[in-house]
This record gives sequence, structure tokens and C-alpha cells, in this order.
Amino acid sequence: MDSYDIAVIPGDGIGPEVVDAALPLVEDAADETGFAFETTRFDWGTEYYLDNGEMMPEDGLDRLADFDAVFLGAVGHPEVPDHVTLHGLLLPIRKGFDQYVCKRPNVLFEGIESPLRGYESGDIDFVVYRENTEGEYADVGGREHRGFEHETAVQSALFTRQGTERIVRAAFEAATEREGSLTSITKSNAQAHSMVFWDDVVADVSDEFPSVDVERLLVDAGAMDLIRRPDEFDVLVASNLFGDILTDIGAQITGSMGLAPSGNIHPGDEYPSMFEPVHGSAPDIVGDGVANPLATVLSWSMLFEDLGEQQAADALWDGVADQLADESAPRTPDLGGTAGTGDVVADLRSRL
Ligand code: NAD
Ligand code: IPM
Ligand code: MN
Repeated sequence: MDSYDIAVIPGDGIGPEVVDAALPLVEDAADETGFAFETTRFDWGTEYYLDNGEMMPEDGLDRLADFDAVFLGAVGHPEVPDHVTLHGLLLPIRKGFDQYVCKRPNVLFEGIESPLRGYESGDIDFVVYRENTEGEYADVGGREHRGFEHETAVQSALFTRQGTERIVRAAFEAATEREGSLTSITKSNAQAHSMVFWDDVVADVSDEFPSVDVERLLVDAGAMDLIRRPDEFDVLVASNLFGDILTDIGAQITGSMGLAPSGNIHPGDEYPSMFEPVHGSAPDIVGDGVANPLATVLSWSMLFEDLGEQQAADALWDGVADQLADESAPRTPDLGGTAGTGDVVADLRSRL
């Protein structure tokens, strides 16, 4: 029997609520499909920071490196500035483990009403390939002349050929597999260096994938079109920041932040990949017991798929689809219901 070691970092806010609620269910799914995994919990995050002055120990990445995968809840706390917490835990893992593919599926499940009129289940079904290690999130810049009138901040974006090519190629491969189309999101009208370079790379890589239709969209028009014609998208590829923004739109038009899963994938075998819901620590609902656990369950499905455990991945994904399609099933308030996190998990467990 295959067995895996998985690091679990529940993190902040609703992170521990959804991670802890989902874990027994996820273990069931593994059990029933014939493999085992052991989790090691790392209580890193803002509470740890307030006690220790750092979000994770200095050797944090070393301690995660040998796991088969990492599962993370969320990071972010009202008492500590976000740039401190995110740059202390989440972003160093994505970058330090070269998790350059951020894969974010957006599916309108049966039983979910999109805030956009007229779409039925399956009409919206696209996946965003977001560059996850450079671009606008590169740590290039600084602040000078602090406190003076001429105080200056510089934040530069970094686009390398290797970094751009590999995310674009991953997106083309996905589009080929889905027998679909690819939409490249840029801002090449205004950002004439980085984004025109991105367009050039897309043109180069597209030669390797003649069967894939390629569309280029400026990010402002892309944001508009995700609202106006979301059914026409299949695979989108975007830089780090644009991908971040568009995937919150994607989550919302397919029902809720509480349903959106995500994988930070290192396609090689040198480092573990990390899976997490798209949403954050949701301080506005923390402690209320109403956080939707389904984004977490779907992210575990992506984790299992990445490990090659397709049966368990399908069991979780189909279980969520089945539950959402059932009008009588419990739902959390973000989906219009009154149920709690635990009710949703218990119901889902009975369906597996
Ligand atoms: P958020 O995703 O935490 O919340 C946005 C809205 O969606 C809130 O109204 C929240 O209640 C709702 N929501 C989110 N997840 C939900 C769930 N599972 N069930 C029901 N409702 C849910 O975004 P935010 O408010 O902009 O950020 C809060 C904190 O989280 C900040 O510190 C931010 O930096 C951080 N953040 C972290 C991550 C991450 O760890 N990957 C992602 C986004 C934001
Ligand atoms: C996400 C989040 C993060 C990002 C933040 C918290 C740094 O918004 O995963 O979507 O921008 O990548
Ligand atoms: Mn985001």
C-alpha cells in the first residue's frame, strides 16, 4: 500500500477551522481508495510569530522539504501587517520550493447559482494558470529617504524568459489536454516591456501547440469578460498579480470564495507542491464556525491528483459536486445556507 507524508500548516484565522474539519474526511477518502498518508502538523503562523518573532522557524523550508506535499490553510491576521505575515510564511514556500504553477480551477457546480444571470452548471468551467514565483511579486525594490518629503518606493516586476516560458508551456499543455483554448492575459498596451515580452513568449511557445487556439486579452478587458462571457474561457494564463486578481473574480462568479481550490505546483520532484484554498483567513467570520470547508476539500482533491491518487481525488471532487447538487444538503452562509463548517463535513462524509 502506498503511503505518503504530508505536512499540514493550518495557519491563521479560518485556516485551522477548515483544515481541521476536513482532515478526517480526507483520511476516509484515502482509506477507502487504498492508500494511507500521515500528516505532520506545523503550528506556524501569526500566533507563532507573536510568540517567537518569526512566522516559521529559520529552517522551516528544510523541515518541509522531504514531505510528499504540503497543505496550507490561510495566512493573515488583523494584528500584524500582511506583508510581514505573508512574506514570512506563504510566499517563501511558493518561491523557495519553486512552485511556479499556481493552478486554480473555476467550476460552476450543479446546484450553485452564479451571481451572473443565465448560467447553469458546467457553463462556467475554466482554469487559471498563474505564474507563482516572479512577475509583480519579485522581491525587487526598496524604500529610500524614509520620512523625508522626497521619500521614494520602488517595486519592480521581474519577468525572465525561463519563468515566463515554463508557465505558458504548462498552460498550453493543459489546454491541449482539455482540447480547449488558451487565453493569455497581459497589459501590453501600457506595460510595453514586460508584457510585450510575455506576448512574444506566448507566440514562441504557441508554435509547439498548433492545435490550441490562442486569444490575447488585456487584463482590464479580461476582468470585464470574465463577467460578460465566462462560459467562453477554458485555460487562462497570467502573471502573478493578474492571476491573483482574476481568480477572486473566478471564485465569486462560480459561487463563493469558500469553493475555490488551488495548487502551488512544483512540477519536478525536487520539492513538494503545496495546496491551499484560494481564500484567506477571513477575519470577519473567524470563530463563528461557519467557514465553508469545501474549498479545502477540493484543494485536497487536487493534492491527491498531484500524487497520482486519482480515485481519491475523484471521490472528494464528486462528493462535493454531489452534495452541492442536493438541495436538502447543509450549506454554509456564503452559499445562502445556515449550516456550520462541521455540518457540511459530516454530510459530505456520509456521501463518500
Ligand atoms: P479572504 O479570502 O480572507 O475573505 C474575503 C471574503 O470572503 C470575506 O468576506 C470572507 O468571510 C469570505 N470568505 C473567505 N473564505 C471563506 C470561506 N471558506 N467560507 C465562507 N466565506 C469565506 O480575503 P481578505 O479578507 O482580503 O483577507 C483576509 C486576510 O487573509 C488578509 O490578511 C489577507 O492578506 C489574507 N489572505 C491570505 C491568503 C492565503 O493565505 N492564501 C489569501 C488571501 C488573503
Ligand atoms: C492568494 C493570496 C496571496 C497572493 C496573498 C495573501 C499574498 O491573495 O493566494 O490568492 O496574492 O498570492
Ligand atoms: Mn488572492
